Order: sequence, then structure tokens, then C-alpha cells
Amino acid sequence: MGAHLSTTVAEGRAFMQLVDGKAADSLSGERIDVVCPSDGRSFASIPASGKADIDRAVAAARTAFATASWARMPALERGRRLTRLGLLVEKNASELAALESRDTGKPVRQGRADVNASLRYFEFYGGAADKIHGDTIPFLDGYTALTLREPHGVVAGIIPWNYPLQILSRVVGAGLSMGNTLVVKPAEDASLTAIRMAELALEAGFPEGVFNVVTGTGREAGAALAGHPGIDYVTFTGSPPTGTAIQQAAAVNNRGVTMELGGKSPQIVFADADIEKAVPVLVNAIIQNGGQTCSAGSRILIERPAYEEVAARLAERFEKLVAGPHDADLDLGALISARQKVRVAQMVAEAERAGTKVLARGAIHSEAPASGHYFAPVLFGEVNPESHLAQDEVFGPVLALLAFETEEQAIELANSTDYGLIAGVWTRDGARQHRVAKRVRAGQVFVNAYGAGGGVELPFGGFGKSGHGREKGFEALYDMSATKTVVFNHG
Ligand code: NAI
Ligand code: MG
Repeated sequence: MGAHLSTTVAEGRAFMQLVDGKAADSLSGERIDVVCPSDGRSFASIPASGKADIDRAVAAARTAFATASWARMPALERGRRLTRLGLLVEKNASELAALESRDTGKPVRQGRADVNASLRYFEFYGGAADKIHGDTIPFLDGYTALTLREPHGVVAGIIPWNYPLQILSRVVGAGLSMGNTLVVKPAEDASLTAIRMAELALEAGFPEGVFNVVTGTGREAGAALAGHPGIDYVTFTGSPPTGTAIQQAAAVNNRGVTMELGGKSPQIVFADADIEKAVPVLVNAIIQNGGQTCSAGSRILIERPAYEEVAARLAERFEKLVAGPHDADLDLGALISARQKVRVAQMVAEAERAGTKVLARGAIHSEAPASGHYFAPVLFGEVNPESHLAQDEVFGPVLALLAFETEEQAIELANSTDYGLIAGVWTRDGARQHRVAKRVRAGQVFVNAYGAGGGVELPFGGFGKSGHGREKGFEALYDMSATKTVVFNHG
């Protein structure tokens, strides 16, 4: 198996977090091991911060908001710094991709794709900084009324481990573009690229304290940040129960939140679809990042006449899928942790116990270390729509096929979970494309395509249990700011 930079990067390093423009250990001196999921081995460490570290970072962000003139800096200048950060991401692409792959176990090409997405966020939000305009509003005679978009102040970003660099970049891009300052708490399972990005931000000319990174567990550092009275807004991507806990903590101070909480996203395949074109996209939508993707296409609803053909073609591909170390760059890597592997294995075992048909299984590479957190992909057919497998997020390479008879039933099934993040619709019938896209309850609907991983310009977020608020695109800039209305009486 290959020996890439991603095999050796950061070996033995004791990473520091970045507070007020300076590298800092946790105040307690406690550390968390950085584990590579490909072999389950610890290769570095990060600070294990707690409430006192969060106090320090929030104070730095508050001071930077009040005095570093970040919010008062011309939007053009903020945009330039974000663009510069994008250029530094490009310059350091190999190192960032290697760090991301080793830290999360994702294949190196996925690490590179994530770096490209990060670059796109900084291009987009760098360019957008001076393009958010207010309104002038027709009002009473003798008055002029207008609106300004104002930053919230200090924004807390709580980041998950599945796409650490991408999700960090969308928070940093949109948050800083609008003039906020940030305290970011990356996931304890994957903090390395967040630390590196805070270093690059200093190099790009962001004033000290504008972008702080504090590492630590969700229970200690995350909870202290979400409930801190010194923050003005929280943005979170992760699981629904943690989203609830964060909202409860933020509610004590009545702070606003954006919540992106995953999904059980359906792809609806009608019998008239271009099945040849659909199949590779259907497979990729569930195996990308080992299925650890909020927008994973984890349910496929197939019109009965096409069911056998689509199922057979998917099975043929699933049989060939291989999981292995990130640096071997196979179809998928290891899952993030032993805990996550147990979660996925339990859901699969439960479905098997209930008699759900396994149509195909992928493999784990014979040379993959036994200590890695690998899970071979599984394809289930004729899944009971009420089952756990059809209703809940697995967050692993597990795909559920369901059959439907009519368009009405397809929509009902698509909308039958508590989630509503994204959806795919495959049909050549133009009128049906529009009908179904309108009736499916999801924040994004793709027609004859699928994938939210790209498209930094496309607003993204959910309905129901998938959360609220929108990330990405211009819409994220509205979430990251508030409207102020100013009224002049000039007689
Ligand atoms: P999680 O939602 O608990 O962790 C995400 C982030 O929240 C991490 O930075 C963590 O440190 C932080 N966090 C945890 N508890 C917190 C608290 N009480 N207050 C503040 N911050 C807190 O996700 P976890 O437990 O790692 O994964 C479990 C499941 O969550 C997965 O199986 C998957 O279904 C889902 N998930 C969904 C993601 C998405 O993109 N929508 C991303 C990651 C996980
Ligand atoms: Mg790790």
C-alpha cells in the first residue's frame, strides 16, 4: 500500500490551539490523542480545553470585534483577506489534504476534494463580502427608511468530524465575510485542519482574535461555548441530539442558531430514468466519505417496473467496492472511530435480524490493518419503510432500497421520515421533474443529478429534524448577520 505524505504527516506533533493570534496549550495542560482511523493508532495530540479556555477565546473574540475594527473595515478589505486565505489554502493544498485524510481516514482523493471545496468557499465569500446590499423602503411622506446588514458579533462554530475542513471553511467564509469574529470548536476526532487554517488566517492578515480555534471534547469545550453569555450566535453541524443540547444551552442567553443536523435523504428513480447515468451517482452518493455525509443518499425509492434492474446493477457495483487505508485511496476509507463502527454495525445487525434482504456486500482490503475501523458496504433490498433502517441516519456505507408503485406513493415515501435535507429525482418526464421537486420536503432537490458536496454557491439546510437556517451561498450571509432598519424624518 502507498506511502504518501498522508502516511507520515504530523507524526508525533503536539498541536496547539489558536487563541488571540497565539499558539496556546489548554490551561489545564490536558491533551487528547489524535487517532488515525486507518490503523486506530495515535500519532499526535491536541489540547483538551475546557470552560476556562473557552472564556479566554470568547474574550479575545469580543475584544477583536469591538476594537480590531474587523466589522468596520471596508467590506472590500475583509473580502480581500478571505481571498488571500483561499490562495494560502491552494498553496498548502497537499499538506491540508494529507492532514485531513490521516486525521479522518478518508481516501486522499476525498481529502483533496475537500481542500478544493475549501478554496471555493474563500473565493466565493471573499468575492461576496461587498455584494450584500440593504434596501430602501417606501415609507411615510417626509421619511426615508433603509436597511443595513449588521454582523451578530462573536459567532461560535461547532464543527463535526466528517468534513472538518469544508464545514469549517463555510463557517469561516460566511461568518468573517459579514464582519463577525469567531470561536470555532472542531470535533475532538478531527481538529488538525482547523488548527492549520487558523495559522494560515494569521498569515493572510486577519487581525489577532478574529478567528480563534479551541480544541476539546463536546461535553467540556463544546457545551461551555454554546452556553457562553459572551457569544452572539451559534452555528452547528452534527447530530440531532447534540443540536438540541446546543440550542438549549444557547437559549439560556436567547442566542440565535443555525442547525444542520443530517438526514435520511431519498433518491427517487422512476422507470423512465436514464438508469445507466443514474447508477454510478446513486452508488457514490452513499459511499462517498464512507457514508459519513449529512447529505448521503441513503434511501433509494425505485418505481416497481425498474426495481429488479436497478437493484441488480447496484448490487453488481456494491460487490466490487473495497474499503482500505486512506493512503491506499480505495473506494472508501475507515469509519471515524470504533464507536461509529459499532453504531453502524448495530443498525446493520438489527436489519438482518428483522429478515431484511442483503443484496450485496463490499469488501475490506486484505492488507488493511485489523486495528482500523473498517466497515464493508452493505446493500439492503425491499426495506420496510417503517424500519429503523428506512427512517434513521446510519452514517455509514449502508444503502436501503424501497419499491413504489405510483408518483403519489413515491412522494409519500420520500416525505415519510422526520428529516428533510436533500433529495434526488431521476426521470425524463419534464412535468414530473417539476411536480416532484416541488412536493419533496428537502432543502435541496437535484433532478437527474445528486450531490451537495460541490456547489458552495447553493443554499443548503434542512426541514424538520434536519435542522433550520441555511449554510452556503448568499443565504448563509443572511444567517450570519441581522437586519437593522434605519428611519430618517426629514420633514
Ligand atoms: P456530535 O453531533 O455529537 O458531534 C459534533 C460536534 O459537536 C463535535 O465537535 C462535538 O465535540 C460537539 N459536541 C458534542 N456534544 C456537544 C455538546 N453537548 N455541546 C456542544 N458541542 C457538542 O456527533 P457524534 O456524536 O460525533 O456522531 C454521532 C452521530 O451524529 C453520527 O452517527 C451521525 O449520525 C451524526 N453526525 C452528523 C453529522 C452531519 O454532518 N450532519 C456530522 C457528524 C455526526
Ligand atoms: Mg482523528
